[in-house]
Amino acid sequence: MELVNTIAEVKAHVRPRRRQGQTIGFVPTMGYLHEGHLTLVQQARAAGHYVVASIFVNPLQFGPKEDFSRYPRNLERDAAMLAEVGCDLLFAPGVDEMYPRQLRTFVEPTYLTEQLCGASRPGHFRGVTTVVTKLFNIVEPDQAYFGEKDAQQLAVIRRMVADLNLNVDIIGVPTVREPGGLAMSSRNTYLSPAEREAAQVLNRSLRLAADRVAAGERDAVRVTYAMQALLADEPLVRVDYISALDADDLQPITRLQGRVLLALAAFVGSTRLIDNITLEVSSVATHAVQE
Ligand code: PAJ
Repeated sequence: MELVNTIAEVKAHVRPRRRQGQTIGFVPTMGYLHEGHLTLVQQARAAGHYVVASIFVNPLQFGPKEDFSRYPRNLERDAAMLAEVGCDLLFAPGVDEMYPRQLRTFVEPTYLTEQLCGASRPGHFRGVTTVVTKLFNIVEPDQAYFGEKDAQQLAVIRRMVADLNLNVDIIGVPTVREPGGLAMSSRNTYLSPAEREAAQVLNRSLRLAADRVAAGERDAVRVTYAMQALLADEPLVRVDYISALDADDLQPITRLQGRVLLALAAFVGSTRLIDNITLEVSSVATHAVQE
């Protein structure tokens, strides 16, 4: 695996590959990698692509009171993990390489960002869509891989690609979890052992909701209330949002029907974590799409 820090080097490595007829698979990340990230790389590899990963902690998507400066970073460890799973090229730019001048142009997502993390983190998704557009233009991938763990991010990027006619296929990858059900996240490293234990209630609440729906419940308020009650039992956990939405247009729903996204964000101690599940809800039976 080659490790490069500049846009010019990325282009110098990728362009000859494309000329030779290889397809390019791209996995953008903010580093401090775990099995979730590596699964995206393995999928790109399995699809036969020349695989490019990026590691860039993007200041544009962090709010002023968020964890940009203390976000975990360890390039050496990450590079070794990526090489191990067969990544071909790692792009790890500095902030000056990605933002050499005051940015006067942004990619502004709307509508899909009114709920969930878009509501809790103003400006966050504008930072994501802007940096992802820049990365797409730098790498020019045929396919780019994103985790369902960040369901709203995946929906926003899919819609951006469709709306702006970007020449890339977006591949969604199911959430990779710890044995206890906790969704893997770079931010899990902030958790104390007691908090890590407590954080498992996030996934348990989604499973409880899936069980209720499987048993015939179709009322969104009753399902989210049951989740809230379970989460309230855990003193280290403070809910930011719990929401039932249409999985495609991300608008809140009152009656559970069709493809339903149940999403939550909660503070575990001072660490904000997210998780979600997509259910295919029919009038007769239901099953989790994402497990
Ligand atoms: P980051 O949080 O590092 O995540 C990089 C990619 O890994 C995202 O597509 C995310 O959904 C996926 N991912 C994270 N945890 C996962 C898990 N447990 N299972 C499966 N996939 C998982 O998301 C970002 O970075 C940034 O917003 C980025 C898209 C790189 C733009 O800066």
